[in-house]
Amino acid sequence: MFSFKELSAAFAQRFSKPHFPKQPESLYAANDYFLGLGGKRIRPVMCLMGNELFDEIHEDAWQVATAVELFHNFTLIHDDIMDAAPLRRGFETVHYKYGSSTALLAGDVMLVVAYEYLNKISSSYIKPIINLFSRTAKEVCEGQQLDMDFEKLTTVSLEDYIKMIELKTSVLLAASLQMGAIIGGAGEGNCNHLYEFGKNLGIAFQVQDDYLDAFGDPEKFGKTAGGDIKQNKKTFLLIHALQTATGSQQKELTDLLNNDAEDKVQRVLEIFRDCNVDAWAKQLKQQYFDKALFHLEEIAVLSSRKKPLLEIAEFLIQRDY
Ligand code: IPE
Ligand code: IPE
Ligand code: MG
Ligand code: MG
Ligand code: MG
Repeated sequence: MFSFKELSAAFAQRFSKPHFPKQPESLYAANDYFLGLGGKRIRPVMCLMGNELFDEIHEDAWQVATAVELFHNFTLIHDDIMDAAPLRRGFETVHYKYGSSTALLAGDVMLVVAYEYLNKISSSYIKPIINLFSRTAKEVCEGQQLDMDFEKLTTVSLEDYIKMIELKTSVLLAASLQMGAIIGGAGEGNCNHLYEFGKNLGIAFQVQDDYLDAFGDPEKFGKTAGGDIKQNKKTFLLIHALQTATGSQQKELTDLLNNDAEDKVQRVLEIFRDCNVDAWAKQLKQQYFDKALFHLEEIAVLSSRKKPLLEIAEFLIQRDY
């Protein structure tokens, strides 16, 4: 069994080889630039772990892991256009550096190359894996649209927020694990529990992402501080603040959302602090983390095999980048 650290290092090394042609450089330089910025590479590692939970890592799991990471990077390039984000992984976003048209194409071609990697795997499970990958990709698009639709609404229920982050974020973590498990020869019951583990962990992961967007150290987190606040994103922080703030703070929040005041981020953060969103975030994360652990326990393999998954799960909800 490999640890989280070992799998991350092994994947980073394999993934550092070129994935794109050289010409036209005006397009592929954008792809190489973005992949060169790194990232945590958690989804491919989860795919490898999903495989290793049941059997030795098969060559095909590396192909699927590569496809998953390329897909994820494609979503980030497009997400940064949608979110008007200038910074990612501590550097300029692709559309800031190369323009939106090139960023769109860089993302598109990354998605195509992801499918090329998927196409290399054994015919014995290529169909279920491509089906799961495609279903997940559609769900991510649906979640991303809901995320933008919510920007225009005054309030969003916690329930609708959870549904939205499940689609835009969790399903990809869940599917990464499950695709690995399919390669590892897991049965349906185990696959389902692993998927649910990933889905609940993914919710906790996005809650942490929303928290870091507001309160993280931008130097470490690598994104613009308060980016979600600027964009009127209906993060759980805002949802909770709108529900628990005093009457006058609620009015101030609503006013801030409707007008782009210069000190908007600062003032919204103050209200967040007054509403103790910090403690509430912790609680919400823990709630989904516990649900995730329940499903991990239900998987019928020796508990010693689950150690790397536990390791990555703990990292994901405590991370500061
Ligand atoms: C960012 O994902 C997008 C979300 C779903 C929150 P990561 O935090 O995994 O981004 P990188 O790949 O490590 O940069
Ligand atoms: C992005 O959610 C999810 C996808 C890219 C599909 P966010 O918009 O919160 O991700 P970051 O914070 O920009 O990484
Ligand atoms: Mg974003
Ligand atoms: Mg977004
Ligand atoms: Mg975010």
